[in-house]
Amino acid sequence: MSSHGTPIPMQSRAGGPLKGTAEVPGDKSVSHRSLILGALAVGETKISGLLEGDDILDTAKAMSALGADVQRVGDGEWRVNGVGVGGFAEPDNVIDCGNAGTGVRLIMGAVATSPITVTFTGDASLRSRPMGRITDPLVLFGAQTVGRANGLLPLTLIGAREPMPVRYTSPHASAQIKSAVLLAGLNTPGKTVLIEKEKTRDHTERMLRGFGADVETVKTDAGFEITLTGQPELQAQTITVPRDPSSAAFPVCAALIVEGSDILVPNIGLNPTRAGLLITLKEMGADITFENEREEGGEPVADLRVKASKLTGIEVPPERAPSMIDEYPILSAVASFATGKTVMRGIKELRVKECDRIDAMARGLKAMGVSIEEGDDYLIVHGQSGDVKGGSTAQTFFDHRIGMSFLCMGLATKQAINIDDGAVIATSFPTFEALMKGLGASITRSNR
Ligand code: S3P
Repeated sequence: MSSHGTPIPMQSRAGGPLKGTAEVPGDKSVSHRSLILGALAVGETKISGLLEGDDILDTAKAMSALGADVQRVGDGEWRVNGVGVGGFAEPDNVIDCGNAGTGVRLIMGAVATSPITVTFTGDASLRSRPMGRITDPLVLFGAQTVGRANGLLPLTLIGAREPMPVRYTSPHASAQIKSAVLLAGLNTPGKTVLIEKEKTRDHTERMLRGFGADVETVKTDAGFEITLTGQPELQAQTITVPRDPSSAAFPVCAALIVEGSDILVPNIGLNPTRAGLLITLKEMGADITFENEREEGGEPVADLRVKASKLTGIEVPPERAPSMIDEYPILSAVASFATGKTVMRGIKELRVKECDRIDAMARGLKAMGVSIEEGDDYLIVHGQSGDVKGGSTAQTFFDHRIGMSFLCMGLATKQAINIDDGAVIATSFPTFEALMKGLGASITRSNR
């Protein structure tokens, strides 16, 4: 059952080549942060290109519930009149973040140093995901939490009345942990320091600087040390959200495996902390060219031209994982069509995403006739040199990226692929079905 209402079974099957332009939606990470930082700033933040997926709409509702004035003024056009750092009001109801791990974790950080009490919940997927990794550092600031066993949602956070600055080394390569700590540091006097061993996506640091906070990143022997000076006055900004490289991954990968395809995917953010998949695909032999390379809003951007390609399996360097952490499901689908094996190690974090993504991909790929090997922190896909059977139903486990990965795969398998529920795709890519059909993909809603 979908946690988003009635399940929508879907099917994809092989057809002609994919052609045309794929205009993917705004970046999910930047969209969450635009709303949250806009809510914490003084004045009116103007956002264009906001992703209007369910995850982001839940964050918008949460910011309203905390006292910000959040208005949609057009397609992807939003205005946020913020309350200022330390200005959040106590909401009069539970905050429901739906399927959004990033939403709930960043908002927990943002409220942890305000003298308010907030109860958080989410859908079945989010209620099974670990929150201790966030509440552990927040407690050090002086916040208190009451939750279910193992720190699962629903969870009540009592914000610190007199927050103390924290120096915290993140035990996981996680931008969500880093961001929660930095957002908690905003309403804390003194300097909050977060140390991460591996560099994760850095949108929070870049955007905090853009809003006027003092944030310094220094490379040390321990990794990357990020220092935030507390209690800045954040100034409202005008933000154009770049397009999401993690959403672009789906049409890009589909075009690589569907014979004769040639598509353009314009305006894709190439922030190095997000670009691991493109590097990996190129190493596998993908014909991807970066056209019109430029800078927009401080982020490197290019138009991607993608042509169907013969791919070769590779060993993906484990240290690349943080820069492509959301892309392993679609990579493993594409690796099924490669010649030789693709080895993905150091991917334990996939077990605590919207679902256990190693398990979900392993089960689904096996059902489609692909030989795989799976371990606690690795997945090995034995490529079938373009000859993949398909013909089965993959379970999505409330996970948008699992659903999209199998639908893309079905565009090149010998027999059609079904997914049990495509409703959850709306969390990050509400236009996926229409966009793929516009490229010529045969994707239908099936009534099994
Ligand atoms: C995100 C960070 C990543 C990623 C998620 C978005 C973010 O999670 O999987 O989709 O916007 O900070 P982790 O930080 O837990 O790896």
